[in-house]
Amino acid sequence: MDTKLILPSRISSLSKLDRFLKQPRFASSRFFLFVDENTYSHCLPLLISKVAALESAEFFEVPVGEEAKSIEVAAQLWGALLESGADCNSVIVNLGGGCVSDLGGFVASAFKRGVPVVNVPTTLVGMVDAAIGGKTAVNLDHVKNAVGYFHPAAAVCVEPAFLDSLPDEELVAGFFEMVKTVLLSDAASFEALAEAVGQEGRVSLDLIKRHLNDCVAFKQAVVKTDPYEHSVRRMLNLGHTFGHGIESYLLECGTPVSHGVAVGIGMACALYLSVKKVGLDASLLERYVAMLRKMVDVPPFSLRDTEGILHYMRQDKKNRDGLILCVLIQELGLPVIDVSVDENEVRDALLSLHKL
Ligand SMILES: NC(=O)c1ccc[n+]([C@@H]2O[C@H](COP(=O)([O-])OP(=O)(O)OC[C@H]3O[C@@H](n4cnc5c(N)ncnc54)[C@H](O)[C@@H]3O)[C@@H](O)[C@H]2O)c1
Ligand SMILES: [Zn+2]
Repeated sequence: MDTKLILPSRISSLSKLDRFLKQPRFASSRFFLFVDENTYSHCLPLLISKVAALESAEFFEVPVGEEAKSIEVAAQLWGALLESGADCNSVIVNLGGGCVSDLGGFVASAFKRGVPVVNVPTTLVGMVDAAIGGKTAVNLDHVKNAVGYFHPAAAVCVEPAFLDSLPDEELVAGFFEMVKTVLLSDAASFEALAEAVGQEGRVSLDLIKRHLNDCVAFKQAVVKTDPYEHSVRRMLNLGHTFGHGIESYLLECGTPVSHGVAVGIGMACALYLSVKKVGLDASLLERYVAMLRKMVDVPPFSLRDTEGILHYMRQDKKNRDGLILCVLIQELGLPVIDVSVDENEVRDALLSLHKL
């Protein structure tokens, strides 16, 4: 199914969403809204005031963050939907960040063998990444995204006004996913986005909003070309092989960083190896690291840390035949996927970070 991407223009996204939901195909549909505590208070009032089609929607509140992404919460929601008389014409509307849309998409994918889902992302991660592309999942036994389906949304509605209440650290997390998009595409220039970061490391919301549509449209175009991640969609893993290793290791050490920050550091490693292995101009690496340092205290990794990070990188589900595979970039907008990287190169990148 094609996902209708609703982006802001002269007409607000929420007005367009209202029109979308009033189509004849939804005439006999009931709408069920999934929110968490924060989107209930910060986002639901705006949504309801602008989208008349959702005025009488029933809403269910789910736990905040990763707690929501469990099979138990999914089962409670299936039960609540049945009790409320939801049927196969019902539509689930996810109002929240990636945790709400991953869970809500998962619930929708299996309820009555699949009901339509509409994503209204309220975090930057949700807007530029999680809400688009059909991946849904819950966690199992502390394994992230262990169980899930591809269930593309009928529509994704991006309303930048929701970002106004987003805490700074959540903005930073999404910002690195945006930077990833810019490095992979020529949708917007890297320099302009780097300008969004002030000297004190704060991200300018205005500049983010200006580049939002391009980043969202880029992700949508990539997943449309390769919905099941057999080829080009893998480029979206830029920075993530290192990033997941760093995220898991620092969590184990009791000094956790957010996924976005880990990916931000991971992209510096990927750019470092891009210079060494595929001829990326070193000045891009320098500009990237200068921006990263304004926002993040990059830890000086020791030899022991590199072994800890490598331990997790060896388990990356994208690896094949025991090889660690990374996305590198030759130049802005020109990624190379599935570059095999040996363990000494991983160690070199992690140990060099601090000297860049
Ligand atoms: N499916 C995919 O393709 C995909 C891609 C990337 C990430 N993800 C998943 O997304 C999840 C992370 O998503 P996230 O970063 O959006 O986290 P999140 O959904 O936990 O939201 C972050 C925090 O912001 C709060 N919040 C949300 N919107 C707000 C608003 N407008 N104002 C104030 N507070 C608000 C939330 O309540 C939460 O506390 C992870 O589980 C990750 O695995 C999925
Ligand atoms: Zn990510």
